[in-house]
Amino acid sequence: MTARSVTNRLGGLAFGGDYNPEQWDEPVWKEDDELMRRARVNLATLGVFSWALLEPEEGRYDFTWLDAHIERLHANGVAVDLATPTASPPPWFTLAHPEALAVRADGTRLVHGSRDTYCLASPAYRSAARRIASGLAERYGDHPALALWHVHNEYGTLCWCDHAAAAFRVWLRARHGSLDALNEAWGTAFWSQRYTSWEQVLPPRATQYHKNPAQTVDFHRFWGDEIIAAYCEQRDAIRQHSDRPVTTNLMLPYDLRLNVWAFARELDIVSSDQYPDANGLDGAAHVAFYADRSRSLAGGRPWLLMEQGTSTVYDGDQVIGKEPGDVLRHSLGHIARGSEGALFFQWRQSRAGAETWHSAMLPHAGPDSRIFREVTQTGEAVAALAELAGSTVTAQVAVLDDPDAMWALEADGLPSPRLDYHAPLAGAHRALWDAGVTADFAHPEHDLSRYRLVIAPSLFLLSDKGAQNLRRYVEGGGTLLVQHAAGYVDERVHARLGGYPAAPLREALGIRVDEYRPLRKEQRITLSDGSHGTVWSESLHTEGAETVASYTHGMLTDSPALTRHRIGTGQGWYLSTHLDDADYGALVGRLLKEAGVEPELAGLPAGVEAVTRHAADGRRWHVLINHTEDTVPLPDPGHDLLTGTTAHELPPGACAVLRGH
Ligand code: GLA
Repeated sequence: MTARSVTNRLGGLAFGGDYNPEQWDEPVWKEDDELMRRARVNLATLGVFSWALLEPEEGRYDFTWLDAHIERLHANGVAVDLATPTASPPPWFTLAHPEALAVRADGTRLVHGSRDTYCLASPAYRSAARRIASGLAERYGDHPALALWHVHNEYGTLCWCDHAAAAFRVWLRARHGSLDALNEAWGTAFWSQRYTSWEQVLPPRATQYHKNPAQTVDFHRFWGDEIIAAYCEQRDAIRQHSDRPVTTNLMLPYDLRLNVWAFARELDIVSSDQYPDANGLDGAAHVAFYADRSRSLAGGRPWLLMEQGTSTVYDGDQVIGKEPGDVLRHSLGHIARGSEGALFFQWRQSRAGAETWHSAMLPHAGPDSRIFREVTQTGEAVAALAELAGSTVTAQVAVLDDPDAMWALEADGLPSPRLDYHAPLAGAHRALWDAGVTADFAHPEHDLSRYRLVIAPSLFLLSDKGAQNLRRYVEGGGTLLVQHAAGYVDERVHARLGGYPAAPLREALGIRVDEYRPLRKEQRITLSDGSHGTVWSESLHTEGAETVASYTHGMLTDSPALTRHRIGTGQGWYLSTHLDDADYGALVGRLLKEAGVEPELAGLPAGVEAVTRHAADGRRWHVLINHTEDTVPLPDPGHDLLTGTTAHELPPGACAVLRGH
C-alpha cells in the first residue's frame, strides 16, 4: 500500500482538505458539493473531530450521519480520507474516566473544553480509541469512496500523570534491564539520586532546580515510542477490516515530541502538515524545509501534504496572513518536493468555535473572494499535474537530523542555554535552498554513501554508531561539514572524555576540542577570514587537519576556528562557531563546489526555486517558482503543464511545471 494506490483511485494528484460538515446544515452541504466541483476537490478528510457525534455515549455508535456525507461526497466524485476522531474525546469520556485526563509536569490536571486532552498511556483512553477505530473500519473499510485512513490528528500530546509514570517504568525496565543499569545510565551518583526501587522512578515532573538530563531524554524517547504504539494499535485494528493505506498527519514543525524516523516507518504513506512562520522568501524556504523533511521521512517515496492554510495561521502569539499567490506557490512548493497533492485545513471556514479566524479554502465571505478564486486556480493547476503522480525527487546533499540530539538539547544544565537544535538545522537547509540545491534529511546512522555533501548542524548528542558511520562516510569519499558542539555526549547523555567530539569523528575531522567557550548574548567575534560568529567558540587542536580560518580574540587568538581534513578519498570540515547567515552561505557555497554539487537547474537567478521530479520510466518535470519581483527568462524553455503552452519566461510570483527532455 503506497501513495500510488491513492493517486490511482483519484486519477491524479490529491486536492482538497479537512471537511467538517457537522458544523453546517443541508443547504450549505449542497453548496459545498457545487463549490468542491468548481475547485476541483477530489479528496476530503472527514471525521477528524467527530467523536461526540459518532459515539454520543459510551459504547453506543451512530454512523448514520457519516453514511450520508460519505455517500454525498462519493456521488460528487470526491474520495474520502477517513479520520479516526481520537484527538478530541467528548466530554462524557472525560467525566467517565477522569484519570485519563492529561497532567502537566507541574501536576495540573487539565479538563475538557479544548482538544487533545487525554493521556495517551491511559488504558481507558487507549481502548476507547481502538474500539472506535475498529468500528469505523468495520463499517467503511471497503467503501468505494474510501481512499485513505487518517488515524488521529497530529500526535504529540505528552503527559506526566501516574499512568504515564507506570508506562515509563515499563519502558525503562525494557531499555535498561536493571535498576543498577538505570542508575549508571542516568548518572544518579550525582546529587544523591540513586534509586533503590522502581516505584521511586518518576517522569521528570516539576523540580526545584535542574532535572537530570538523561531522565529528560529517556522520557522523550519513552513518549516517542508510546505515541508510535498508540498509532499502531489503531492502524492494526483498521487493517483487520480494510486494505486501504493508513497514515497520520505529522506536525513536523512541533515534532519535538515525535521519534520521526521510527514513526514514519509505520506509516503506509507519510503525510504532514505545514504552516509557515513568515511571509515572502522566508515563508517559501519554510515550505521547502518541511517538504524536504517529509520526503526524507518517506525514504524518498511520494508523500502527502495533509494540511496547509490559505491565509491566516496562528504562530505562537502572532497571526500570519499569506500573500496573494501563496496558495498556488506553496502548493507547488510541496508538490515539487514529492507531495502527491495539496490539502488544506479546512474546506469551509468555521463560523463558531476555537478556530473561527483560521483561514480556509472557502472563507466567511464565500466564493466571491480572493481566497476562493486562488483556491480554484490552484485546484485547476493541481488537476493539470496528474502525470506527476508517483514520480520522485533525488538529492545529492543531506542534512543530519536526529531526535535524540534534539532531546539532548531540551534538557537542563546545558553548556550554554543558547545551544539550539532547530535553528542550525533550518539554517543549513536554508543555505542550500538559497544555492538552488535540493537537500534530503538523514539520520546520522543511515547509509550516507549516495550523498556528495553531508552537513551535521546540530549533533550535540551523537551515538558511537553514528560517529563511526560519519567516519566511514568521509573515508569513502564524502564531504562532511560538522558544526560546533558536535558529539559532546553519547546516547546516554554522558560527556565524551578525552576531548570532543566522539573519537571516530575526531579522527575523521583531524581535530580535538579541549575546551568549550560559549559566547555571551551580545558577543560577536571575527575570524581571520573576516567572517563573524556568535553563540559558541572552542579551543581546538588540529591533529592532521589544516586550519582554514582562526579566531582573533582573547585566549583563542590564532587558534583554529574552521578546519579541513583530507582522509581516505573524502574530506571532513569542522566549524567551531555559529557563523552569520551570509558567511555561512558562502562556506556552504564553497563546500558545494568542492563536492561537485550543481544547482538543480543552471542559469536561474537567486529567488527562482527549481526542483525536478523523476518518473521511473525516465520522464521528468521541472517545477519552477519565481519568488522574485522580476520577469525571469527561462534558459531552457519547455512545455508548461499549467498553461498547456511553451513557457519562455516566468513573470514575478509565477509558477511553471515544464516537461523535461
Ligand atoms: C493543525 C490541526 C488542525 C488545525 C490547524 C490550524 O494542523 O491539525 O486541526 O487546528 O492546525 O492551523
